[in-house]
Amino acid sequence: MQNGHNTKNIFDRIAKRYDLLNHILSIGIDKYWRRKAVKLSNISNKSIVLDLACGSGDFTKAIMKYQPKKIICADISEFMLRKLKKKKGLKSIDAIQTKAEAIPFRVNYFTNIFIAFGVRNFYNINEGLKNCYDILQFKGNLTILEFQLPRRKFIRKIYSLYFFKVLPAIGRIISRDKTAYNYLVESVKKFDNETNLKNLLQNIGFKNIRKYELTQGIVQLITAEK
Ligand SMILES: C[S@@+](CC[C@H](N)C(=O)[O-])C[C@H]1O[C@@H](n2cnc3c(N)ncnc32)[C@H](O)[C@@H]1O
Repeated sequence: MQNGHNTKNIFDRIAKRYDLLNHILSIGIDKYWRRKAVKLSNISNKSIVLDLACGSGDFTKAIMKYQPKKIICADISEFMLRKLKKKKGLKSIDAIQTKAEAIPFRVNYFTNIFIAFGVRNFYNINEGLKNCYDILQFKGNLTILEFQLPRRKFIRKIYSLYFFKVLPAIGRIISRDKTAYNYLVESVKKFDNETNLKNLLQNIGFKNIRKYELTQGIVQLITAEK
């Protein structure tokens, strides 16, 4: 469960071109994943929301469409947060630089926590998710989006070709970073092999855990309740 890489450093390096690459590499489907995740989260205009591992704020934007009472963004990468702060509609948002393993919020504070494509990068996934449990209100909702490798053999074969060969090459060219996208695809493989999010959340104490597989199972969407 421990993640040895210096993820802060990696995301600082790719922050500049992160959005562009995201949309190219997912052919724009990431917008659908985000919309679906927020829709299933029980969010309302009374919600107090944390967007954890918020990155450059694309997910935050999807959340804001529901006009929650309060929203706080948190991420370990200073450069990702800087990018977020430059975006239209996000300039005055509360954004703090922190790692999930040491989030400085009151217990029982948030009604909703979202983590989109961030969990697998945590230094210690269990610790990060335990913290989420603590700072959620009773009956509060955790919503996680994360990549996984498709379970069906044929799809997995074709997707692996794209994911492990084509994607790092495009990532290398556009981000002009030789290794960051290799790390990113390897992190998906490692996470897929080692982590069962549903079991992890159950052991922490979450209830009503549901898992949805999106786009032929390349993304998992998990919702859970405290
Ligand atoms: C792939 S990006 C996803 C960003 C955003 N949620 C999105 O959907 O576009 C992963 C983010 O997780 C952040 N991150 C990685 N490890 C973290 C940790 N331990 N605590 C908080 N944020 C972390 C990175 O800095 C990066 O911005």
